[in-house]
Amino acid sequence: MKEFDNYIGVFDSGVGGISVLKELVQAMPNEHFLFYGDSAHAPYGDKDPQTIARLSSDIATHMIDSGCKAIVIACNTATSAAAEQLRTTWPNTPIIGIEPALKPAARAFVHGRILVMATAATLKLEKFHELAVHWGSNSEIHTLPCPGLVDLIETGDLDSRAMRTYLEEKLGPYRGKVDAIVLGCTHYPFIKRQIAYVMGEIAFFDGGEGTARHTKRKLQEHGIEAPADQKGRVVFRSSIEGEGQRELYERLYHLPLY
Ligand code: DGL
Repeated sequence: MKEFDNYIGVFDSGVGGISVLKELVQAMPNEHFLFYGDSAHAPYGDKDPQTIARLSSDIATHMIDSGCKAIVIACNTATSAAAEQLRTTWPNTPIIGIEPALKPAARAFVHGRILVMATAATLKLEKFHELAVHWGSNSEIHTLPCPGLVDLIETGDLDSRAMRTYLEEKLGPYRGKVDAIVLGCTHYPFIKRQIAYVMGEIAFFDGGEGTARHTKRKLQEHGIEAPADQKGRVVFRSSIEGEGQRELYERLYHLPLY
């Protein structure tokens, strides 16, 4: 018997994946989840793909060795840099990734103006280019790398003056010029209200719900869903030790999203 037998392992470079975890729990309340935030190494978005792949592989190895039956990469950056490698290493374990929600945005706003906010690494890597070619050809796509934004979110102070200044400087030039925003980093759903404050009424798209649906399907395909009468549990772990970090993770987990 291993510590996390039959859990679903969910990881991110830090707190961002908690926005995906919330969707997973809502879709599968009977599953047990182990959430791991690699906050000690955040942000991943400024790192080279080899480093991101190595960090992701270390986390996945630990989760699978601890008994996890499936892995959700709750990080757009790590999905782009590492998902294929992880699937090759563990061909029999469902490994589910996340991608910027360009497809639903482009479907909802045909010929629309869509702003994709993401990390520099996500926007640079092949996966996003394929997505943009496939789903963005009828729309006007603007890509906006946001270095430094994950660091601000990791502090847990989502209403800081530094956050307001950052968002105003980055997003101000797009005010009134785009119809929808794709939140292409799992940290960003936590600051939807702050983004809307700068942008006004705007449609948001993120990949959390789609990832939860896909995870549920994968578990069914593999025949490894939890018993319907099981009451699901969530366990938080972080690469930063300490009570403060745990409190931050739990606070964000319970924060209603705008
Ligand atoms: N939350 C992550 C994502 O979805 C990565 C953020 C980072 O560490 O740069 O891309």
